[in-house]
Amino acid sequence: MRVLLGVTGGIAAYKAALVLRLLKEEGHDVRVVPTAASLNFVGRATWEALSGHPAPTDTFEDVPSVQHVRLGQRADAVLVAPATADFLAQMAAGRATDLLGNALLATEAPVLVCPAMHTEMWNDPAVVANVATLRSRGVTVLEPAVGRLTGPDSGPGRLPDPEDIVGAFHGMVDPTPEPFSVLTVGTWGDLDGVSVVISAGGTREPIDAVRYLGNRSSGHQGFALAEAARERGATVTVVAANVTLPLGEGIGRVDVETAAQLADAVREAATEADVVIMAAAVADYRVAEASATKLKKDGDAGLTLELVQTEDVLAGLAALRREGQIIVGFAAETGDASGSVLEHGAAKARRKGADLLVVNEVGESKGFGTAANSVVMLDAAGEPVAEASGPKLAVAHAILDAIVRLR
Ligand code: CTP
Repeated sequence: MRVLLGVTGGIAAYKAALVLRLLKEEGHDVRVVPTAASLNFVGRATWEALSGHPAPTDTFEDVPSVQHVRLGQRADAVLVAPATADFLAQMAAGRATDLLGNALLATEAPVLVCPAMHTEMWNDPAVVANVATLRSRGVTVLEPAVGRLTGPDSGPGRLPDPEDIVGAFHGMVDPTPEPFSVLTVGTWGDLDGVSVVISAGGTREPIDAVRYLGNRSSGHQGFALAEAARERGATVTVVAANVTLPLGEGIGRVDVETAAQLADAVREAATEADVVIMAAAVADYRVAEASATKLKKDGDAGLTLELVQTEDVLAGLAALRREGQIIVGFAAETGDASGSVLEHGAAKARRKGADLLVVNEVGESKGFGTAANSVVMLDAAGEPVAEASGPKLAVAHAILDAIVRLR
């Protein structure tokens, strides 16, 4: 999940570093926007080192990327910790005096605000009114903890412990966790400018004018990969084999039917691609001589079709890959007497020569057409490097994470 962490100018800003670390450990991609005042407490270098991203403060930094709007628009969740009394006033008034104020006005994501201040300030009628205003607008405002404050004072107003803040964050973004609870969905533009070609769906090999040999692939996983890659900044082209699903705006689409058409379309698109993902279920065999007219029954006689192998697109792409190009394959396996799903997958990884092979178990109610998926990713030597399960979009992001690690 893409989390925007706002840090405002209070002594408890150091605790936000621990909040950031906990969120990162959970796999979230966090961008920090500190206010200018907060930099008196914790410096920008800390935020940049811990988040792995720039930590801008000013609206006029990096103007071409329009980040004062983008940061808020792209966030899946926003967390402000600590939030000063002045920040609460600014937010309640809807003021965009700095980058954090702008981002908050531009976001539609859920917002968790964690105030920290002296007890007298927390009880001040202006602060009480501002908190009520924010809550009435749907902002989650965490109650401060009771305890030691700056100087000799103690009472309500202390920033809750980082674990409690992260717990409240979970409560906000994931109130009813699914068993798989995949929160790692999406990162900030880590595929900006990367060209990705994805094959999706299942090919159909004609038998005659009306019949074909096909498979059960729905195209959902390939399309989810396309949406996820686009969301992360990639330029995406999908070669879709018999997929009826729509694709989001800005994604290129080439529709094909047969393995031969898919091979041509993928090969052409792949010449310019940085990453090629072969998510399509491509027929291994086609009918040697498909009939141009409808085949008629011949009395009681059976029918024998002669099949010939199609070209292995993935192996061909892997053999001819350009320097730096990443080739990703899928392996739909059922497991059988000669080996388990993973054993077959590992053998296929070595045979095909792809940089990454995404193995999923298919069969009755598994893989094809279902909303969720469960995969293990193998490297070229057949060693497992990652696994993911959950909705196909979450699995798509996990596959892209593995691809980003290869770049
Ligand atoms: N693939 C391909 N061209 C083919 C067949 C498959 O490019 N003619 C690709 C698929 O898109 C997928 C990978 O190869 O990325 C593995 O597909 P799969 O059907 O699991 O493997 P097969 O090559 O058919 O191997 P086997 O028959 O041993 O299962």
